[in-house]
Amino acid sequence: MTEIPAKRWNPKSISSTVASRTGVRWTRSGEMDEEFAFFRGLYIVFEGIVGSGKSTQSKKLAEYLRAKYPDREVVHVREPGGTPIAEDIRTLAQAREWDEPMHPVCNAYLYASARAQLLHSVVKPALAAGKIVIADRSFVSSLAYQGEAQGLGFDKVLAINAEAVKDVIPDRIIYMDIPVEISLARTFDAAWDKWEKMGKEFFEKIAIGYGKASRLEMFAGKWGSIDAIGTPEAIARRILDFLGE
Ligand SMILES: Nc1ncnc2c1ncn2[C@@H]1O[C@H](COP(=O)(O)OP(=O)(O)O)[C@@H](O)[C@H]1O
Ligand SMILES: [Mg+2]
Repeated sequence: MTEIPAKRWNPKSISSTVASRTGVRWTRSGEMDEEFAFFRGLYIVFEGIVGSGKSTQSKKLAEYLRAKYPDREVVHVREPGGTPIAEDIRTLAQAREWDEPMHPVCNAYLYASARAQLLHSVVKPALAAGKIVIADRSFVSSLAYQGEAQGLGFDKVLAINAEAVKDVIPDRIIYMDIPVEISLARTFDAAWDKWEKMGKEFFEKIAIGYGKASRLEMFAGKWGSIDAIGTPEAIARRILDFLGE
């Protein structure tokens, strides 16, 4: 399997992780050590099928952390998107229709290119500055969607994403675990989205893809499957428990 270097974290609480990542290290030539600075922030991603509550819970978590850590900037982004260029690529990838079907490889590159723009221009600098980044989706979605449901396989998706993702691997992956029937019964995003008209079988495949992704070595100690049925408040509490908050 293609390797995207995985940085290892002890599954510590946000409080202790944030507290321990406050220093700046200097190189021998007197410049800020970017590699060290990068790890001062915290990158938390939400994953799951359409309607599983990612947008609702990622915003709630951002509000909670802003209130709890007023000295830390909390940045909330979504994928695909999060920058003007990446938002335009989002439209191409999932909100436009043509007379020809989009090939899964083309699809995978579009997501990877939106991701490259977001990660390189927003997420990585934010992490380097010690900010907490909360993301609604990440390259893990591409593993489930293009890798499993669209049949490309994880190796191809990881290869396509290697340069886009580079060393920006999530510190925590919050997987919103919910039966497909329940999530599909919930209201979808108001904006038209090609995935949302896909049938139950497609989303069952995505759930299988997420199950496989959860067992990847690179996510060891980072993956939290959250029971996504219940009131938004009850689910938020489960997420905070997973994060040690
Ligand atoms: N815990 C919940 N119980 C019932 N409905 C919910 C819950 N959380 C969110 N919703 C609703 O379900 C829909 C999908 O939620 P959303 O957060 O947009 O999911 P996603 O971003 O994963 O597609 C929205 O209409 C939202 O208001
Ligand atoms: Mg959403």
